[in-house]
This record gives sequence, C-alpha cells and structure tokens, in this order.
Amino acid sequence: MTESAARNIPPTTNNAGIPVESDEHSLTVGPNGPILLQDHYLLEKMAQFNRERVPERVVHAKGSGAYGVFEVTNDVSQFTKADLFQPGRRTEMLARFSTVAGEQGSPDTWRDPRGFALKFYTEQGNYDLVGNNTPVFFVRDTIKFQDFIRSQKRRPDNGLRDHDMQWDFWTLSPESAHQVTWLMGDRGIPSSYRRMNGYGSHTYMWINAAGEKYWIKYHFHTDQGIGFLTQEEADLMAGEDADVHRRDLFDAIERGEHPSWTLKVQVMPFEDAADYRFNPFDLTKVWPHGDYPLIEVGRMTLNRNPEDFFVHIEQAAFEPSNMVPGIGPSPDKMLLGRLFSYPDTHRYRIGPNYAQLPPNRPHVPVHSYAKDGPMRYEPNRVGAVYAPNSYGGPAADAARFGDPAGWETAGAMVREAYKLHREDDDWGQAGTMVREVLDDDARQRLVSNISGHLLDGVSRPVLARALEYWRKVDKNLGDRVAKAVNGS
Ligand code: NDP
Ligand code: HEM
Repeated sequence: MTESAARNIPPTTNNAGIPVESDEHSLTVGPNGPILLQDHYLLEKMAQFNRERVPERVVHAKGSGAYGVFEVTNDVSQFTKADLFQPGRRTEMLARFSTVAGEQGSPDTWRDPRGFALKFYTEQGNYDLVGNNTPVFFVRDTIKFQDFIRSQKRRPDNGLRDHDMQWDFWTLSPESAHQVTWLMGDRGIPSSYRRMNGYGSHTYMWINAAGEKYWIKYHFHTDQGIGFLTQEEADLMAGEDADVHRRDLFDAIERGEHPSWTLKVQVMPFEDAADYRFNPFDLTKVWPHGDYPLIEVGRMTLNRNPEDFFVHIEQAAFEPSNMVPGIGPSPDKMLLGRLFSYPDTHRYRIGPNYAQLPPNRPHVPVHSYAKDGPMRYEPNRVGAVYAPNSYGGPAADAARFGDPAGWETAGAMVREAYKLHREDDDWGQAGTMVREVLDDDARQRLVSNISGHLLDGVSRPVLARALEYWRKVDKNLGDRVAKAVNGS
C-alpha cells in the first residue's frame, strides 16, 4: 500500500489534476546536481506563487466578511417595489467590513471610519449597498475624493502616514467637520465589527409599484449594542492583536453567535427635497430623526464564514451601481461618482470577468451580451452576440420592471457648489452632535482624542487652523482643545 493510501488522504496533484511525484524534492541530476527544467511541477509551484496576489483595494484594503441572510420584518412595499424588501422575503447576502486608509496588514484598531459593504443576491440580480459605519462623509463632491484619500494614506517621500497632511486637508475642506467630529469621537474606533452600526450614508431613491418615488436613507443598527475602544485601549490592541476584529467576527460565527443588524430607513417624500431645510443630497449631512423618523424594514444576520478568505472576501467586488428595480441613485455628487469608480477598479484589481467569481455571481440567470476576456469561464448563453437579433436573444424591456429611477433636471453646465438650502452650513450638525448627543465623558474623550492627534506631527500653521476649525464646530470644544494642545 502506498503512503497516501495508508494515511487515507488523496495524493497531491498539479493544477491539471495529475498526480505529482514529490512535495519535498525537486528533480535534480543526482542528489547534489542541478535542478532540471523539465520539473514542470516545481515550475508551476514557483510561477503560481509569484502570481498569488492581486492588488489590494486602493482604499478599504483590510477587511473581513461573512455570508448571511436578510429577512424582511415590516411591510415597506408602499415605498419600494424592490423584490428584496417585499413582505416575507428572505435574501442571501454577503457583508464585508473594513478599515479605510490602512493596508492589508494594518491593525484593525486604527482610528478610521469602517466600511459596511453589503451584497444581496436578489431575485432581480445583485443589489449592493456599499456604506460605512457613519452616516456622513468628509467631502461632498467626487472630484475631492482622490485628494482626500491621498491626505490620509502615506507620504510620497518617506512612506509614512502623516497627521499634518490629514489636518491640512481637513482644515482646508470645512465640509469635513461633521465626519471628523464623528471620527474623533467614540465611534471612531469600534470595539468590534459586530458592535457598530452601518449606514447607506447617501440618499437613495425608492420607487413603488405605482411609480411613486421617495428619497431614502438606510440605517443598520447593531443588535449587539454599540461598543467602542478608547484611544489607549486601541493603541495597546494594535500591538497585541492587529487582527482582533477579523478574529472576533470569524470566531463568533464559528461559535454559532450570529451577529445581526436591524435595518431601518428614513423616508422623505419626493417633493420635500426641493425646500427641505438642509440639502438632502449633501453627504456631509444627516436627516435629523425628528424630521424623518426611522421605519423598520428587516434584519440581516451573518451566519456563515467564507470557506476561503481570498476567494470570497478578497475577490468580493461591491459596486454601488448594482441597483435593482425599485431602487435608484439620487443627485448626490459623491454617489454619482461612485457609480463609475467601483466596476472600473474591479476590472483592474481582479479582472474584467470579476462578476463570474463565486462572491460576485448573481443567484439568477445572467442574460448579458458581454463576452470573452481574460479568465471568462461562463459560456455566452444568449444565443447571439449582438442586440437586436432575430435569433431569440434577450431584449431590454424597461416596461417589464415599471418606472425606472430618475428625476427631472435642466440647467447650464457649471462647476459650482450645491445651491444652499436654508440651514446648510459646514459646522451646524457637527456642533449639534458635540452639544446635544455626546455626554460630558464622551466630550472629554473627544477633546483628548483631537488634541492627542494634533500633537502628533502637525505643523504650526495647520495647528492654528485646526483650533479655529474646532471653535467653529463648537466654541467651548475649540477652547478646550486649544488648552490641551498649547495651554492657551
Ligand atoms: P437624535 O438625538 O435623534 O440622534 C442622535 C443620534 O446620534 C443617535 O440616534 C445615534 O445614532 C447617534 N449617536 C449617539 N452617540 C453617538 C456618538 N458618540 N457618535 C456619533 N453618533 C452618535 O438627533 P438628530 O437626528 O437630530 O441628530 C443630531 C446629531 O446626531 C446629528 O447632527 C448627527 O451629528 C448625529 N447623528 C444623527 C443621525 C441621523 O441620522 N439623524 C445618525 C447618527 C448621528 P444611531 O441611532 O444611528 O446610533
Ligand atoms: C472601496 C472609491 C466614497 C465605502 C472603494 C474602492 C474604491 C472606492 C476605488 C475600492 C474598491 C475595490 O477595490 O473593491 C470611492 C470613491 C468615492 C468613495 C471614488 C467618492 C466619490 C465612499 C463612500 C463610502 C464608501 C462615501 C461609504 C458611504 C466604501 C467601502 C469600500 C470602498 C465600504 C470597500 C468595499 C469592500 O468591502 O470591498 N471606494 N469611494 N466609499 N468604499 Fe469607496
């Protein structure tokens, strides 16, 4: 009996399934001799290894994820015809949580927003909701995103992250104040992925079966309760276990403790948008709950770890442009830019046929005219490779799915900021959070987090601007930060 047969394990094969001769010895001329080029198994091993990495995501590189299910618990069919939100529906899904600025190996407990990316395998194709653990963002125009991210990543000269760049950008971009307040507060370092909320952040459109339109904001409230780490706890943890959040999520699911989140939405009647007190499409603003209360929709539960991290999580490709009938974009200038960005980066990072990979494959038949390209393995099954054709190929037919998302628009082509609504400004909602949402202890931690950050390599002129920035958020907060930073 051979060794593998005796141990009741399969023999190693190469990638073609052919049994190989050895896992331990290269083919050489004599035991001490040179290695032979005809050892094609060795060549395959070396070549395959050299190609193991795909580029990491340009942002949100470090992440973790799991599969689960979304169940509808309340009837919201008066607002949307989307299949996944109809009463009684249960939809399989994938979630990936991430930090934003760090690289693949970076600690999970660095202060940073957290990504909250969801892919629902619906009866109408994949619906992706690619949000964060905060309801707002640092900038409100796509054209600033690339600069913002560069200010958060590493310097070109020494390859180091640099608080001066971060505060330089933030203080020159006052629209960042709301999100930076959030980031510097307790929720800037969640205690685990399980214990943070998720937000769609942008305003989206919902359309019901009668063609009526609504503006929507998504809130996923953690059923585990919010948890956070202080800066000191997070710093210690970064050294002790850089993967603590990845481990926590994976281990909890393995133990059968399946984390869940309750989805609630804010619904704004379509017509309210024009003269609402804030621009409802500005990503640096929330809609106060008092104006638009939360309405429950359903619950998402993560119940299955991926069998292979690379295949299912690293190759997962979320794209805000994946919207199903009943859901559409809004005039948010960030969202509209994102509709381009994600499929484009997937084609580069994974390859043009990324949609055929296991985490990205829809659970419904694909009738696309796309064909060929590297690594394509699903045959083109539409019967013809062009449309229109007279051979029974699929035909686009908007009428079958009711009114599409959209709104009326007209105007001259300009490069201008959003037109201000009555109460629009960059500081107001940040100040409300500081004064009305945080308690004294949370405010004290905010002062300490901001001043600690500012004391770490921020140059004098930028520091002066930062103190002014915080005084504009809240005079008292700014004065306390100034005192903590320079005793003035
Ligand atoms: P509410 O009092 O109704 O809402 C305040 C919300 O703040 C809470 O519901 C909670 O959101 C969130 N919150 C609590 N603690 C923290 C914290 N440490 N860091 C960040 N967020 C926290 O008031 P409004 O709706 O009028 O909003 C007041 C301010 O609250 C806003 O200016 C905004 O800064 C902040 N906020 C508002 C949200 C909204 O969608 N309206 C969402 C989150 C924050 P949650 O219930 O989502 O956990
Ligand atoms: C990832 C671009 C704003 C949430 C990414 C990636 C790009 C990108 C290129 C990498 C995707 C990949 O390689 O798979 C942009 C642009 C933005 C923007 C151009 C603004 C115009 C936002 C905002 C949010 C967000 C506002 C949240 C509300 C995410 C998340 C991921 C991500 C969660 C990780 C997805 C995953 O887990 O794979 N973004 N982004 N982004 N972005 Fe954005």
